[in-house]
Amino acid sequence: MINPERIDRSSTCAGAELKMTELLNMTNILKNYDHCLISALEKYDFISAVHSVNTGIETTNLGKALLNSPNYPYKDKIDLNKLKIAGTLHDIGKICIPTEILTSKNKLSEAEFAIMRHHPIYSAKILKQFSPDPDLLMAVLAHHEKIDGSGYPNHLKKNEIPLMAQIITIADVYDALTSDRPYQAKKTPAESISIMKNMEGHFNDEILKIFIESKKPLISPAQSLLDNGRTQSLLAL
Ligand SMILES: [Fe+2]
Repeated sequence: MINPERIDRSSTCAGAELKMTELLNMTNILKNYDHCLISALEKYDFISAVHSVNTGIETTNLGKALLNSPNYPYKDKIDLNKLKIAGTLHDIGKICIPTEILTSKNKLSEAEFAIMRHHPIYSAKILKQFSPDPDLLMAVLAHHEKIDGSGYPNHLKKNEIPLMAQIITIADVYDALTSDRPYQAKKTPAESISIMKNMEGHFNDEILKIFIESKKPLISPAQSLLDNGRTQSLLAL
């Protein structure tokens, strides 16, 4: 189990704290802090802000799929409200990453990637200013951990990784694959699911299986041909 206090001993991000202070002065942030924080990220990097909102939606939908699954045994540990907040704010720490690294169209150097790997720590540090809830802090801190221990920042394995983080990471990767990025064209839902199935040691197999099941309506052959928004209108006919 990670001690939430580790967040405070991590690297600092004076710029982010300044921006957050400005936001606190401007808005009643305690009522709607998830929306306000995303607004801050949007001003900094639009792609990251869109990804955050999408991941929040995907995370919440996956939480619902787990709750609706007859076979999933840990339903009592699923809190949809916390999932929505942690899923939406998992990358808020990216406002601490230099924009030239965050928006680079080229493959990051090892030094640049080392800086990028700090963003979950920054996310937890920023979120801690608005919520002391250890579940939320641990979820955003661990969203890049992998089941086999090869993730970051703490190289957690299997059940050492908080359940919420195991859910967020699936939503996070799926949205990244199905979205256009400066360095890659978006994949179809079917292609993305296929890639995720082959990411050995990355995800909780049980949760991934239920996620894939929930995406079945989007990955049938007929709908893959219409992967540009028209799928929904076709389904409505
Ligand atoms: Fe991230």
